This record gives sequence, structure tokens and C-alpha cells, in this order.
Amino acid sequence: MKVAVSAASGGLGTKTLNCLIEEVGAENVIAVARSPERVSVEGIEKRRGDYLSITELTVAFADVDSLVMISAPVGDTDRVVMHRNVIEAAKNAGVKKVVYTSVVGNGKEEDTWYWPTQQDNRQTEVDLADSGLDWVVARNGLYLEKDVENMIRSKDAGVYRNIAGDGKCGYITVGELAYATAKLAIDDRANGKILNLCGECLTQAQLVELANEVFAMELRYETIGDEENIALLMQHPGIAARGEHVAKMLTGCFQALRAGAFDMPSDFEAAAGRPVKPTLHMMRELRETIVA
Ligand SMILES: NC(=O)c1ccc[n+]([C@@H]2O[C@H](COP(=O)([O-])OP(=O)(O)OC[C@H]3O[C@@H](n4cnc5c(N)ncnc54)[C@H](OP(=O)(O)O)[C@@H]3O)[C@@H](O)[C@H]2O)c1
Repeated sequence: MKVAVSAASGGLGTKTLNCLIEEVGAENVIAVARSPERVSVEGIEKRRGDYLSITELTVAFADVDSLVMISAPVGDTDRVVMHRNVIEAAKNAGVKKVVYTSVVGNGKEEDTWYWPTQQDNRQTEVDLADSGLDWVVARNGLYLEKDVENMIRSKDAGVYRNIAGDGKCGYITVGELAYATAKLAIDDRANGKILNLCGECLTQAQLVELANEVFAMELRYETIGDEENIALLMQHPGIAARGEHVAKMLTGCFQALRAGAFDMPSDFEAAAGRPVKPTLHMMRELRETIVA
């Protein structure tokens, strides 16, 4: 069985490739990326495939049985169209199954600035279900890494601030998501299902408490307003470069968190065949890679 990952040069793609190598062997794993030279995983076949080109993707998916379609980043290009290109190319190339990495949400995100992005995710889910291919939708929880990094950046200030308030969220590491995604790609038991891949649901204050324990910090959590949050995000050069609409989308994601949109039961065990790691455990693993 040949398994490919598209948009494979990113964080989730890289970790998913490594998990797939463990599962099916490097000779059966193919990385598809718009810049294959950016795929850091060694010993596997790398093919060029830009989400903007059905022709290129069709060639890239030759001989592939199962494809992990990593969702395109939010930017200026229409993500629904890009994902449709991937699905169309998968059909052209005779791919049997596509696993799509979507985002969790119970609908309470409807009145937030995150809604347009979530609608794109949901539209792709519908497009995939209507494609005639075998499919699985993995709705991913928010990345634990990003928020832990933000907490560590706040260490000297002694206060960690965002707009989430008492909203609960099932944060999960990219490593855990990759593990479950690789299993979904090679095992057909979850075909035709939408699964939430997330960890235990915690408030920001609870998350800060765990981070204080693991990273020897004394942070307290404080809620701020939406406009202040956008201003803080725009201080990050990476976000400023992508534009204020991205800062607004990211703020919207935390509006959704605040509204309880990410407070959902996890289907991780059904996907991965084992329970998701406790958040404290995931944080301790991150301590090995993030310098506090
Ligand atoms: N659950 C969460 O908390 C969370 C957080 C952030 C993002 N996400 C979503 O999850 C996705 C995967 O996350 P990640 O951490 O792997 O993101 P990432 O590290 O930013 O990687 C994004 C990937 O998309 C590729 N890409 C961009 N435009 C493309 C195009 N036109 N055609 C083909 N590939 C293209 C990039 O390729 P290059 O290397 O060529 O740029 C890169 O490989 C993101 O794209 C986003 O939709 C989820």
C-alpha cells in the first residue's frame, strides 16, 4: 500500500510522514509538496504538487492508494478551491482514499471572526464526502505547541493574556495528531467518519497551571479584549507579514474557544487505537523540544 501526504513540508506533514514510515516502511511513503526540496524527511520519494495545479497533483498522486490531504494554510488564496483541486486530482489518479485534516468545532463558532475559515473547512468536508472516494475527516484540536510557546514568551512578564476567558479547549500536540492521522490513512475502519482529534478540555487558567509546573514558571492568566488581542498578534513579525486579516482570524479562533466551540469529546482512541496522552504528558514531551 502506497500512502502519500500532500502539503507535506509543513509541521503536521513532516510528523505524519515519520509516523507513516513506522507503519508501512519508507519505500511506501510519498511526500507531495509544492517545493519538494523543503521536505525534511529523508529516505522517501518526494514529488512536486502545488494545490493550485490539478495537472501537477494528478501526476504526483500516481500509484497512491491512500492520501493525507493536509489543509492549506489560511492566506489570500481560496482554500476550498485548493482542496477541490486535490480531490479532483486524487480521482484522476485513481487514489482510493483521502484523509482530510480539518478543525474541531461544535457550531458555537458561528458568531466569531473564525466562522469564514471554519466554513471553508466544512465545505471541503462536504466536497470530500461527495467525491465518491473513500474518506475520513480528522477534525484537529488546537495545537498545544503554539500556546505553550506563547506562555513561555510571557514568562518574564508574569502574566499570560488572551481573550479565551473560561472557555475550554482540547489542545493536542502535532505529534499526537500525526500519530492518529497515519493510523487513519492505513486503516479503513473509520472510513466515512468525522472524528475529533483532541485532548482533555481545559480552561486557559488550567493550562497555565500545567505549564507553570512543567516549565518552572509563575504565570497567572488574564483575559483581555478582542482589539487588544489583534494588536498583540500584529507585534509578531510572522503574523504581521501575513496581514491583519490573519490576526483577525486567529483572534476569531479564540473567540470560538471563549464561546465553547472547541469544548468537545475526543474520538482520538477510535482513530489511533490508544487514548490521547494526558495534557501534562504532552507538555513534558514539549519540554524536550522547547527551551524554557
Ligand atoms: N489545529 C491547529 O491549531 C492549526 C494551527 C495552524 C494551522 N492549522 C491548519 O493545519 C494545516 C497544517 O498545519 P501545519 O502545522 O503543517 O502548517 P504549516 O507548518 O504552516 O505547513 C503548511 C503547509 O502548507 C503548504 N502549502 C502552502 N501553500 C500550498 C500550496 N499552494 N500547495 C501545496 N502546499 C501548500 C506549505 O508548503 P511550503 O513549505 O511550500 O510553504 C506547508 O507544507 C495548516 O495549513 C492549517 O490549515 C491548524
